[in-house]
Amino acid sequence: MGSVPLYSIPGSSAPVIEPAAPGVAASSARTVAQVLAESQVESVMDELDRDLIGLAPVKQRIRDIAALLVIDKLRMNMGLAAQNPSLHMSFTGNPGTGKTTVAMRMAQILHRLGYVRKGHLVAVTRDDLVGQYIGHTAPKTKEVLKKAMGGVLFIDEAYYLYRPENERDYGQEAIEILLQVMENQRDDLVVILAGYKDRMDTFFQSNPGLSSRIAHHLDFPDYSHPELVQIADKMLDAMNYRFGEGAREVFGEYLTRRLAQPHFANARSVRNALDRMRLRQASRLFANRERELTRDDLTTLDPSDIRASRVFRDSVA
Ligand SMILES: Nc1ncnc2c1ncn2[C@@H]1O[C@H](COP(=O)(O)OP(=O)(O)O)[C@@H](O)[C@H]1O
Ligand SMILES: [Mg+2]
Repeated sequence: MGSVPLYSIPGSSAPVIEPAAPGVAASSARTVAQVLAESQVESVMDELDRDLIGLAPVKQRIRDIAALLVIDKLRMNMGLAAQNPSLHMSFTGNPGTGKTTVAMRMAQILHRLGYVRKGHLVAVTRDDLVGQYIGHTAPKTKEVLKKAMGGVLFIDEAYYLYRPENERDYGQEAIEILLQVMENQRDDLVVILAGYKDRMDTFFQSNPGLSSRIAHHLDFPDYSHPELVQIADKMLDAMNYRFGEGAREVFGEYLTRRLAQPHFANARSVRNALDRMRLRQASRLFANRERELTRDDLTTLDPSDIRASRVFRDSVA
């Protein structure tokens, strides 16, 4: 089923979608190792460990979920009762903490273990589901569900679906359709609701029907300063750049100042900062037309590329 990934994160490699899902069909596997080998789920988990800095609690929860699915598979192979586990999840945390990235990996894991047919991720927000006029919401929501079938539907800032201040908000209609599908088609669609933790808590309190269908709540913590520096190293490496002599220290200083300012968005802000630093590096190299540029020149960010940031000019109290 040569399906094209419907979502990819700029700057990261597109998810590999394997043509042949092993299917939750019974097999002769009797050991955890055999199921892992059959499904190749371990390589996704290893990648998750390797590619993503920090997130220890999230990674542990994913291993726990994978363990449950692997054991379920072994139970099924033994002919034991196997009900379809509910796999709908909520991913809560601040912007840039890796929710979308992890959701893509989750889709791959679920696919490799045969819980969804295709393993693609469809990422949407309220506007993709809810119409402006009467009669528009149901077709919109159903269209999105159709696209997401066989994979994961990721609803970002899901709480915007619920607007109690509006007497008859069309969001409610979308929620009701979602609820039905989450219950009746959970063998072929996993829904992940994402957003800020406090708003999501309030949303679940007002929507117990939804809340009760979410089996796994994963909380994404903010990254620490050292983790953010490691994330920067990783991103630079992936782009064939690196911090030159003294540049990592200046970047650390940059982060300290940036963290004290409003609207800091974790790894996303790191990515944006690196993009601006690459621009400055390019301008610096561009200024000298005659110089022969070495590999080092082309790949190295100097301290000056970072120091030129506005963050160093605005005095921080
Ligand atoms: N733990 C991490 N390690 C490395 N890169 C990360 C990590 N978390 C997020 N990123 C990168 O940061 C960016 C924002 O992540 P994203 O998953 O979109 O966050 P969210 O969905 O929580 O806003 C992406 O480019 C992603 O690859
Ligand atoms: Mg996101």
